[in-house]
Amino acid sequence: MNEPLKPASFELVHARAVLCHLAERGAVLARLVAATRPGGWVVIEDVDFGGAAAAMAARYVVPAEAAGVSERIYRAIEAALAANGADACYGACYGPRISVRRPRQASSRLRV
Ligand SMILES: C[S@@+](CC[C@H](N)C(=O)[O-])C[C@H]1O[C@@H](n2cnc3c(N)ncnc32)[C@H](O)[C@@H]1O
Repeated sequence: MNEPLKPASFELVHARAVLCHLAERGAVLARLVAATRPGGWVVIEDVDFGGAAAAMAARYVVPAEAAGVSERIYRAIEAALAANGADACYGACYGPRISVRRPRQASSRLRV
């Protein structure tokens, strides 16, 4: 998280199921974007199992009688993560929440 990153030095940056754990995820994402070459790619994969997603996932539990337990487990994990600054719904939030500024001449893309 505090590793020095040379600006515009990576063609591809990939983080899977990591940013959701970091209270400073917005700042970390900005650093990752800054470390990406103009025209490069930032690929972020992250989780979404809290909130409404916990109830949705429960619909697919077999046997169906275990759906309530499944939802409670997901919600308990979500609460535990939140208590440490993590976000169990981060994967659902890139579009509406993420805003990363790059110099005008740069063209690195954050594809979500
Ligand atoms: C769910 S695992 C994902 C591992 C791997 N990226 C993958 O996709 O299989 C979450 C990862 O986040 C890392 N992590 C959590 N908090 C971190 C922190 N504060 N600094 C660095 N890494 C962290 C953990 O070490 C763990 O490897």
